[in-house]
Amino acid sequence: MGNRCDLSFLFSPLEPSAVVKHTATSVVTIERFIIEQERMFPDATGELSGILYDMALAGKMIANKVRSAGLADILGATSDVNVQGEVQQKLDVIANEIVVKAVDHGGRLCAMASEEEPDIIHIPEGFRSGKYVLLFDPLDGSSNIDVNVPVGTIFSVFKKITRGARGDMEDLLQPGRRQVAAGYILYGSSTMMVYTTGQGAHGFTLDPSIGEFLLSHPNIRIPEKARYLSVNDAYEQDWPEPTRALMRRYRGLDGQQKALNVRYVGSLVADFHRNLLGGGVFCYPANSKSPRGKLRLLYEANPLAFIAEQAGGAATDGYGSILDVEPTELHQRTPLYIGSRHEVGLVDQFPLPRFVAPGVPERRSGHQPPIPASAPVGAA
Ligand code: AHG
Ligand code: MN
Ligand code: MN
Repeated sequence: MGNRCDLSFLFSPLEPSAVVKHTATSVVTIERFIIEQERMFPDATGELSGILYDMALAGKMIANKVRSAGLADILGATSDVNVQGEVQQKLDVIANEIVVKAVDHGGRLCAMASEEEPDIIHIPEGFRSGKYVLLFDPLDGSSNIDVNVPVGTIFSVFKKITRGARGDMEDLLQPGRRQVAAGYILYGSSTMMVYTTGQGAHGFTLDPSIGEFLLSHPNIRIPEKARYLSVNDAYEQDWPEPTRALMRRYRGLDGQQKALNVRYVGSLVADFHRNLLGGGVFCYPANSKSPRGKLRLLYEANPLAFIAEQAGGAATDGYGSILDVEPTELHQRTPLYIGSRHEVGLVDQFPLPRFVAPGVPERRSGHQPPIPASAPVGAA
């Protein structure tokens, strides 16, 4: 591993994923990896690389907060006021601030959007405005924090498309297909960062002894053969019949295939990560109580869909690829089926109703799902 050309083998899309075993001389830090990838693009300015470093730094800082979350109740006494007399903040609010502060001053972004903030986040006056926008879920699965279950941070990056000096809503409402980078940081038994810039999906594990993310999973390929089904089937009573039939298929109840094992963490990022490495499908279908599903298109579904496709998997909302959805709102929800290609492809065999509750308008024009012969719950 002497010169930069030595890493080229990592970028072959045909190489199966394997965990890298580091030796004292072969350690590949995330910084080195990003630089090597950037060198493949002679016109690259380094700004996108800078955003990825900043996210890696934010991830390390959030990991630190997550690790001590269990101590907060002990150290923070019994009220909501901590030992310094400050009101204790929820961890997702803290994570939001960490991300914003890590990226707002670098001159690389012109605007941001976060699950934790209702509106566009502008770059503060006095800081240079850049040519990218960032959308993120600072802490995904945050209700799991209290019970010591993995959570994560998810992010998506687009190029600015408007002409003004600063970023606009239009820059944030782009279809996922135009993402230039996406990633997540998973705070699990170890902290991992997985990202893509469209050159494969690559995973890095934080070595806490040196505070560096080290390349551990180059060129991740989602196994073709799925092992897992991740779905909250407490909603079964609220699903339309085609969704129930699809789930029966996954569970081997219609005699068409072997049953998948059911695994549901309740943190999308953790469920996705397990299925990415082990093979499987995560589903959060629309139901009559949440007619558009629960998950958010721009900072949950889109970035994970980009990674899934880069790893040889797929993601759909039931009517087409997630990455082709034209967003209309910052906090838009979407049904989501994501993971191994074959299992996601099965969704097409179970035509979902256009919507599963009366009074909800069509979300997309020009991309109509077929209407099944026997009218399902709420079909138009
Ligand atoms: P967040 O904590 O960012 O609000 O996201 C929670 C999401 C997601 O992580 C998870 O897959 C889903 O909520 C679980 O929802 P249910 O409890 O309805 O299954
Ligand atoms: Mn979330
Ligand atoms: Mn969240």
